[in-house]
Parts: sequence; structure tokens; C-alpha cells
Amino acid sequence: MKAINLGVGAVVAVALCSATATAQMQFQNHLMPQPAQLSLGSGDLPLSATFAVETPAMSDGRLTNAIDRAVRRIESASGLRHAGRGAAGTTHLVVNVTHASSPVQSLDEDESYSLSVTPSGVKIEAATDLGAMHGLETLVQLVQPTGNGYAIHAVEIHDAPRFRWRGLMIDCGRHFEPLTVIKRNLDAMAAVKLNVFHWHLTEDQGFRIESRVFPKLTGIGSDGLFYTQQDAKDVVAYARARGIRVVPEFEMPGHSTAWLVAYPSLASGTTPDEVRREFGISDTAIDPTRDATYAFIDRFLTEMATLFPDAYVHIGGDETPAPDWKKNPRIIAFMRAHNLKDNDALQAYFNTRVLKIIARLHKHMMGWDEVLTPGLPKDVVVQSWRGEASLAKGAQLGYEGVLSAPYYLDAMKTAGVHYLADPVPSSSSLTLDERKRILGGEVCMWAEQLNERTIDSRIWPRTAAMAERFWSTESVRDVDDMYRRLIPVSVELEGLGLMHLASEDAGLRALAGTPNLASTPNMDALRRFASVLEPVPFSDRYDEQHTDQLTALDNLVDAVVPDPPSRHWFELAVKRLIADPKSDTADRDALAAWFSQLAASVPAVHQQMTASPRLAAASQRADQTLQLTAMGQQALHYLAGTENAPAGWKKQQLDTLDEINKPSALVRFTLWPAMGDLIKAVRE
Ligand code: ACM
Repeated sequence: MKAINLGVGAVVAVALCSATATAQMQFQNHLMPQPAQLSLGSGDLPLSATFAVETPAMSDGRLTNAIDRAVRRIESASGLRHAGRGAAGTTHLVVNVTHASSPVQSLDEDESYSLSVTPSGVKIEAATDLGAMHGLETLVQLVQPTGNGYAIHAVEIHDAPRFRWRGLMIDCGRHFEPLTVIKRNLDAMAAVKLNVFHWHLTEDQGFRIESRVFPKLTGIGSDGLFYTQQDAKDVVAYARARGIRVVPEFEMPGHSTAWLVAYPSLASGTTPDEVRREFGISDTAIDPTRDATYAFIDRFLTEMATLFPDAYVHIGGDETPAPDWKKNPRIIAFMRAHNLKDNDALQAYFNTRVLKIIARLHKHMMGWDEVLTPGLPKDVVVQSWRGEASLAKGAQLGYEGVLSAPYYLDAMKTAGVHYLADPVPSSSSLTLDERKRILGGEVCMWAEQLNERTIDSRIWPRTAAMAERFWSTESVRDVDDMYRRLIPVSVELEGLGLMHLASEDAGLRALAGTPNLASTPNMDALRRFASVLEPVPFSDRYDEQHTDQLTALDNLVDAVVPDPPSRHWFELAVKRLIADPKSDTADRDALAAWFSQLAASVPAVHQQMTASPRLAAASQRADQTLQLTAMGQQALHYLAGTENAPAGWKKQQLDTLDEINKPSALVRFTLWPAMGDLIKAVRE
């Protein structure tokens, strides 16, 4: 056995693994998230026959189903014939669980597990079936080819999460997501050990959960796009089967147009005629001054508690300018009578009354940053979207918190940037007690600019990198190694039904139009062109397009994916080349071939644009591809060292790059900023 200290970085771990490789196979560490402790054993477990499963201690339906799913995935990944349940396999898989998890998964559930693989079998040990499920996910990721078959290298893993709250929020209010989308995203969450699905169910643009007590909420407030109560129960059960809590969010008192259009008596003054189509911050708000408001919320939340068993209820609470509160004489009089000096004080009053309802339901309240107002009871969890500073402030004041600010997927940041954002880095000035109040992190998928065809590619694979941040030790932060492992995890997720890889191709095919698909090379050209483009961030797109709920989301910006593999590949190749420009011929040749292929795709793409107006909107980007590849080829030539660039060449190229960085067609090139580094490395 050779212990590997994962704290020094996974690249080192891989190097050590190679050093201890046996004759049979070299261990390839593809695990994401990385486990707390991993030691390599000698030999491997060949996957030539399916498993004989033993659960000597606790066993229940949830555990049995989780084992069945994992075994099936391992059988698929290793080309084994599927064995039915109870069939006699010969490869030993012992899953030894001490006791069942609590009926409603709590924040404090023991999620740890040990996994031991030897040439004679697998043993997973865990206090709870939740820990065992995490161990099974790790086992699936350990399968690797041997050359003539598949095997799992002998390993000993001891693992437990760093943070208890590892979430993904999906906004189903602004754009509705069908149940199949939700379920496959739950599968993906389980694969990377996320444990909280935060379901944003109400927005200005739509009320998405059926209330039988208040049927107009979806009857009028949803455009007919909502989850029935049975759907909600299905999602909760599906998530529970995968070790995931479901925290529902019902936005109040702001972001509440859909409540008010259905029940205008809840409004503070302005009553909307229809759900809001524009995005941004609405002026309308629930009236916090009437007892009838709280009676309504009480009945609604009491009904919702029958669907959502989790101990937490999220009430939103963000972005409530509520100008009506300053204009409505009745509200002004109420504020005066109750000594509430401003809107913040009135919202704090509202929160306190809603908190009483939630406490009566034996639940905890959660809200966005803005709920953190003076006098807020300490039993409220604050979800920080405005920055680490507000998370820290909450922790110092005694509130538990979850960090989301650096994990907004619609900012279109790279996986690497998200990955390095730590919920509470060791450099933080918080005391030990304050740090303990940071429960973890939550990735946020806001839905202004996505639909059911594009959502997976916005969430995955970047969220897998953040899942590692929330699970693994702080010192696991080698970005290049994360990108190396992101590729196999991405393929694993596709195997679970996620559409993040396939949707780009589907989007491009739809844009190309059928006449353009008659020839495969045309599609290849379009794919190549698209491979160096990614969507611009949410705010840039909003500024350029004024996206609203009815905007068609089927253009090039929607087909292309954030942080595609071309970006990191190019960045690495450029970094290596400029470190050794004369002798790194491998990277020079690879880059030259790549630039040539990219340039060669442009005529076919232009030709497709003549028959596809939606695609033609990006014709400037096609021209710029030629400019970029030409400057890249010239840079490679000069870096090879036979001649220097003429005086002024660099400035000219960098000016051209600045032009190319200006907005066009809502997409940007992934070659920036590494192309700038390549140009700057040239000598004049
Ligand atoms: C938020 O992004 N307004 C929570």
C-alpha cells in the first residue's frame, strides 16, 4: 500500500499512482469529487462477472435500489451482461451499513463511508445508507479499461464531506422545466455527491406548484406550466432515493407578481394584469400590513409542508424595492403605528411574522441576503448571493449561512474560476465558531436565458467542479487536474441521461437547417466554428438583447456551451509553447493544425449562413475566426524563431483582438485571453 496525500494536489497523486502501478494496470484517478483519503493497494479487481451483493447489516429498499443502479452502471461501463436482481454473480460486493438514515434526511446525517477494493472483491462500510450511496458513486467512477477488459484498481478510501450543505438551485419560475429535466439533474447531482436540491418554484414570471387551497395561483399565475402535487411528491421521493434533500422556495414579499395576479387582494397597491414577462426587479410586492396576508401564507405553507418534508423552507426575500410601501397611505399609517421607519424595517416585520408560521410547522426559515436585517431571529439561514462579505457578516452576527455569490452559472465563468472560490478559505478572518456557521455552498441556475433544451449544458459539467469544492478538502485545488477529470465525469453524466453534450449538436443542427445537413462535412465545419464560441454572461446578453420570458432561446448563443473544452486546451498549449517557443514543436504543430482546421471551416459556415438567417446573425464571428486564426499562425511562425515580427505587429494584433472582443451575436471567443498571451510572447 502506498498512501497518497491528496492535500498536496491530485496531480501529485497521479504521479504517485503511476509509480506504484502494477503490471496489470495503472491507476487513473478520475474521481470527482476527490476523496478525503485514498491509498492504492496492489493488484486489481477484474470486472469479468457481475456482482454477488451482500448487505450483512442494515438493508432496505432505498439501499437495495441504489446498489442495483450502481451495479447496472458498472455493468454498462464494463460491457458486462446485465444480471437481474438476485442473480448469482461471483464478484463480491459487500455493503455494510450500520443503520438507516433518518426518514427525512437531516443536515447532520452521517455521510461518511469507507471503500475497500481488493482483487477478491469490494467492501463499502458506512454508518448510514446515505454514506453507502456516496461510496457506490465512487465505485462507479473507479471502473477503468485494462487494455483487454475492465477492472477496478485495488484501493482503500476513507471519505467524508467537508461541508454539510452542497446544493444546486434551479429556477423553474422564469422558465418551466419538465419533470424529466429535474430528475436527470438529480441523478447528476447524486453522481457528484451534491445533497440539496433547492427548487425555486415561484417567480414574477410564473407560479409553478399546484395549491389546492389556492388554485388560482397556478390557474392564473402559471401559463399552465406547473408541477402538480403528485409531481412534487415524485421529485421528493426521487431525490430521497438518491440522498438529496429538496428545499422548496416560495418567493415573498417581492418577486411575487404571480401570487398577485392570481390573488390581487394580497397586493400592496399595484395589481398586475398578468404574470410579468420582463425580467429584473418588479415594483409589485405582497402587502405585509394585513392579517389576511399572513392567514393566506399560513394556509399556503401548511399545505406545502404536506409535500415538502425537509426541515427548511426558503422564502426568497431578495430584491423588494416595493415603492407601494412608501406611497400607500394605509401602509404608511401602519408603519408609523408600528414604529417601522423604512421599507427594510417593514420587511423585517414581515419576515418575523412568516418565521412564526414556519416555526409552527416545525421548520427553519431560509432567505437570501436581504432577510438579514436587525432583529432577525438567529434561527434563519442566510443564503448569500451578494458576496462573501455578507456571508461573513451573517456568520459574525450568529447566523448560519450558505454561499452562492461565486457560484452563479449564468455569469458564464469558467469551471476553473468557480472551482477556486471557497465557501470559507483558511485565509478567512472568521473565528472557528463563525466558520462552523457556514454550512456550505450552493450553485445557482437562474433561468432568464435558458429552457429545457439548454439547461443541462449551463449546469454541467461546471457544477461537478463546484461539487468537488464543497466535498473535498480545501487543498484540492489544482485547476488543470480538475479539467482533466471533468472530461470523464462529463461522459459519466451523459450516461445518466444528461443532455449537456448532445444539446450543442442538436442546437447547431436546428440552426443549420435540413438542406445544410445533406453533407456531413458541413456539419463538421459548423461544429468546429461553434467549438471556439461560448455564450456571453447573463448581464451582457440582457443589455444587448433585453431578453424577456417570451424571447426565443434557439440561436447560436443558446446552442454553444459555456467554457467548452477548446478554451482550456488552447490555454494549456499556449502556456507550454510560450515557455519554450523554439523547441516545443509538438504544441506548435498541434496549434498550427488546429488553426488551419478552424479557418477551413469558415467558407462552409458562411455558405450555411446564406440559407439560415438565424445563423447568419453570427457572420461577423465567422469573419473574425479567419482573423484570429491568421494572427495565431503568424504568431506561431515568429515564435519558431527564424525571424522577428515587424515593428508594430504586436500592437496591430492586440488592437484587432480588442475589436474582436466587442459584443457580437451574443457569443464570445474562447481563444481570449490566451491569444493575447501568444501575441505578447512574439519578438519584434
Ligand atoms: C438573487 O440573485 N436575486 C437571489
